[in-house]
Amino acid sequence: MKAVRIHQYGGREVLSIDDIPVPAIAPDEVLVRVVAASINPVDWKVRAGYLAQMIPHPLPLTLGWDVSGVVAAVGAQVTQWQVGDAVFSRPDLARNGTYAEFVAIRAIECARRPRTISHVEAASLPLAGITAWESMVDAAQVGPGQRVLVHAGSGGVGSLAIQIARAAGAHVIATTSGRNRALVESLGAHQVVDYTATKVADAVEPVDVVFDTLGGEVQEASWTLLKPGGIQVSIISPPDEARAAQQGVRGAFVFIGPNAPVLERLAAMVDGGTLRPVVGAEFSLDDIAAAHALSESGRAVGKIVLYVGAP
Ligand SMILES: NC(=O)c1ccc[n+]([C@@H]2O[C@H](COP(=O)([O-])OP(=O)(O)OC[C@H]3O[C@@H](n4cnc5c(N)ncnc54)[C@H](OP(=O)(O)O)[C@@H]3O)[C@@H](O)[C@H]2O)c1
Repeated sequence: MKAVRIHQYGGREVLSIDDIPVPAIAPDEVLVRVVAASINPVDWKVRAGYLAQMIPHPLPLTLGWDVSGVVAAVGAQVTQWQVGDAVFSRPDLARNGTYAEFVAIRAIECARRPRTISHVEAASLPLAGITAWESMVDAAQVGPGQRVLVHAGSGGVGSLAIQIARAAGAHVIATTSGRNRALVESLGAHQVVDYTATKVADAVEPVDVVFDTLGGEVQEASWTLLKPGGIQVSIISPPDEARAAQQGVRGAFVFIGPNAPVLERLAAMVDGGTLRPVVGAEFSLDDIAAAHALSESGRAVGKIVLYVGAP
């Protein structure tokens, strides 16, 4: 089968389109025929070796940790899936990924994919959707009437976080550049701040929740935007606890793993009409270097999806 692998860490030149055997499955795993995978910044961070200390991947490694596809084989202990089931997943980051025609995934890491969207759209959801859900629902516990600031509302995670916070009844403020304003408004943001034209701190009244998807100066500048007792949730770096305490607020760090129960909640939202994935670009496996270049530019709109092949 065709797979995009790395044999060493490095730039986009280390992306290698290889012909390798279809993976064997363990008794608790399913083999998924990949219809679509998606790109996340973690993919090129792994490719570059930035996570090598944290996750000692054996090389060569197939990249990619989002998939929508069809079950092609089930392990002997698997009872919840049958050949032909349409599933989506954010599989274990420590294992070979989904930029391939087939991937072996633990059965408990899969969920039934939403019925009302395509495989391409479904592939865009798992990693970014679990991240947005764990940040907005679990960490921040966003509820009715709360004011929530989502940084990078046009990004893969931000575009879903806006909708999840909005569905929870929050008043949502999102940052983006002017060219993405209409998109971010269409996702349900009540206020959109063009960070290229306005200092965010000058445009935003105090909020209960900040969702930091950018880190660095953005995280630092966001502390003063919080109401007393508020929370800044970061997916970039653990917030400075002393800084939070000084301000009378809290910080939280989210780093996600596989989470099939949340995938089921996301699928229910999609099929119920309260969540729509945003796919801004689609590439084939052969165009993987261009797909990584777009993600690395920091200018992607919504999600970048890799179309692998028909179900
Ligand atoms: N901890 C975790 O478990 C976890 C999970 C998922 C993602 N992450 C991390 O979270 C980050 C975001 O991921 P993602 O997939 O959402 O990224 P992404 O889709 O690549 O983000 C791109 C978007 O960011 C916007 N943007 C860039 N600079 C901005 C700024 N200064 N202010 C406002 N918007 C800005 C861009 O909009 P404009 O072009 O309009 O500027 C673009 O639409 C990545 O670093 C990723 O590795 C962590």
